[in-house]
Amino acid sequence: MGKGSGYGKVILFGEHFVVHGIPGIVSAIDSSTDAIVTKAAVGLNIKDDRKTSKGYSEEKRLQQIESIERMLIDMKLDPKTPLDIWIGGNLPGFSGLGASAASSVAIARAISEEFCLALSNERINQVAYEAEIAYAGNPSGIDNTASTYGGLMWFKKNPAGGPDFVERLNVQGQIEIVICSTGKVANTKAMVDGVAERKKANPAKYDALFEQAANLAVDGRRALEAGRLAEVGMLMNKNHQILQEIGVSSVELDYLVDMARKQGAIGAKLTGGGGGGCMVALTPGEDLQARVANAFKAEGFEVLTTKIGAVGVNKN
Ligand code: MEV
Repeated sequence: MGKGSGYGKVILFGEHFVVHGIPGIVSAIDSSTDAIVTKAAVGLNIKDDRKTSKGYSEEKRLQQIESIERMLIDMKLDPKTPLDIWIGGNLPGFSGLGASAASSVAIARAISEEFCLALSNERINQVAYEAEIAYAGNPSGIDNTASTYGGLMWFKKNPAGGPDFVERLNVQGQIEIVICSTGKVANTKAMVDGVAERKKANPAKYDALFEQAANLAVDGRRALEAGRLAEVGMLMNKNHQILQEIGVSSVELDYLVDMARKQGAIGAKLTGGGGGGCMVALTPGEDLQARVANAFKAEGFEVLTTKIGAVGVNKN
């Protein structure tokens, strides 16, 4: 029996743009997916005990099977190796929280243990990237990197295909955030493909938006590192606006973003692939965090409260 786990994540700046080589800022969250893998006599038997949005497991089932086969191939194992796989943990299966990457990292670690492969974190990250291709088509690698290593990081995809540019970011203290799910399952691959198609069809508009996204990541990093939280929030709001302009927000996400701001969040945006999934709000201080979280809960939404820059999130 092999065991493993992987962190969930929240993207503060740059989702979608990172796929095209623009830098982004991501933070692991203190919720993770756990996996247990055991060699089986026959078949691939997956028991998924995660709490999920309605329809999540069904919607992701084929991608999940493909992702496991891709991982096995990358680990030089037979893609049809019979396995019993259990997936659980306290990271909900909501789109946008890196649930696919977290499960891939957890399963990769568990397979590595079960087959005595002793894979390094660097290899686990590569294997999980392979798995992410099944879910996202052309992933940047930001989700699996955050899920493997934890912490708050600056991420820039390496256009040459070598190691990505990853730097840990130091912030002063921990900053409370609220994550709220629309409850809608999103298809990351369709969202990523959609942006690439629209970019190709309208290069002038998209080049300008991509330049804005790059500037927002740079300014966001400076503000975060200097502890200028009001500025971070304002930049997150601008990030949401350009995500709307590239067509990845939704009525539900805009509603949550609006509501978070009305409740006093100093910044709010969609997080992850969009088209459903989750919103993240910057809510420094426990009182503000509770006020924003409670407002969502009162309307029946699923909410996660956590902190970025938290010590203890760097497991490895
Ligand atoms: C998904 O969490 C983030 C995307 O940018 C896809 C990726 O970077 O792989 C939408």
